[in-house]
Amino acid sequence: MIGSAAAGKDVSITGLGVKVPDRVMKNDELSQFVDTSDEWIHARTGIRERRIASQEEALSDLALPAARDALAQAGLDGKDVDLLIVATVTPDMTFPSTAAILADALGASDAAAYDLSAGCTGFMYALAQAYGMLAGGLAHRALVVGGDILSRLFDWTDRSTLVLFGDGVGAVMLEAVPQQGFLGFDLGADGAGGESLWLPGSGSRVFEDADRHIKMNGREVFKFATRILVQSAEELLAKCQVSIDDVDVYIPHQANVRIIDHATKKLGIPSERVVINVDRYGNTSSGSIPLAMADAVADGRLAPGKLVLMTGMGAGLTWGSALMRWTMNGAAA
Ligand code: ACO
Repeated sequence: MIGSAAAGKDVSITGLGVKVPDRVMKNDELSQFVDTSDEWIHARTGIRERRIASQEEALSDLALPAARDALAQAGLDGKDVDLLIVATVTPDMTFPSTAAILADALGASDAAAYDLSAGCTGFMYALAQAYGMLAGGLAHRALVVGGDILSRLFDWTDRSTLVLFGDGVGAVMLEAVPQQGFLGFDLGADGAGGESLWLPGSGSRVFEDADRHIKMNGREVFKFATRILVQSAEELLAKCQVSIDDVDVYIPHQANVRIIDHATKKLGIPSERVVINVDRYGNTSSGSIPLAMADAVADGRLAPGKLVLMTGMGAGLTWGSALMRWTMNGAAA
């Protein structure tokens, strides 16, 4: 699915909030569990540390402060929200949805609320859905949350996956704006590649000996990621008739700095325009892009009028890009 927003209403991000657990786990600490080292992890992934939720923290506990900050920044209350989407693969529980739990905690009693599952691309899918509902006039104020507590799914004995992921959440408010905001989206899925990154035994299909831990074919995912980050971005830019040279800020999914470097070089984006925080958070799945947004706001790169390209990819296998002209003024709350 690909489309430019030229004919629609102007919709943009008007508030942003993020939350990560307090607990920092450095690479060296992981070598207590598996045969690995800071040197290997940093050289192969760019990661130095990640945040790990406590046993008491569920996704909604991280989402709530992030959502409150996004609302405050937009000058809104929970009751103003009429659409609430939580993009995640680690909801508090299968049902009720984390979105419904969050809507209740925020007092968003008039909101349609649901969870969305598109792997690490969930945040991009949710942005596109909220954009469509706002542009179509069905909703007026959408809260989009993306985040995961992937540490609940870790196999603490599998070094090939353990070192890659971390926990974190971001939230954005979407509203109609006088001009600018989202220019287009590209979303896709290739279920044939699903077994490259999956969680057998986590649903209705019965598997013998399923242990409900992340299973990944790292090389296949690497190949997919390096191809799709470039392809999706180029197709969306062409659809929106925008040159890569005009992109001020590039926010790729934060999975591995080698994947990001590859995409950046192929796309021809100068490195100072690329947001990278995988060193501090690892891969936080649907939290990755909003966490990177918050960093780019904080360092002054995301300012009103800047052209922003973001691309996510992940389990499914899925991918999603958005192009927008940033309108939000001020630092993340
Ligand atoms: N520590 C030390 N050694 C390790 C580790 C580790 N954590 N993991 C693997 N190794 C070893 C392997 O056993 C192998 O040893 P061998 O040569 O003796 O057989 C060697 O290191 C090289 O292993 P490779 O798998 O070839 O390493 P590679 O350079 O491909 O890097 C990695 C592996 C980092 C997983 C890479 O394939 C990758 O990033 N893939 C993409 C993963 C990803 O991004 N997944 C999520 C995306 S989607 C989403 O966000 C949910």
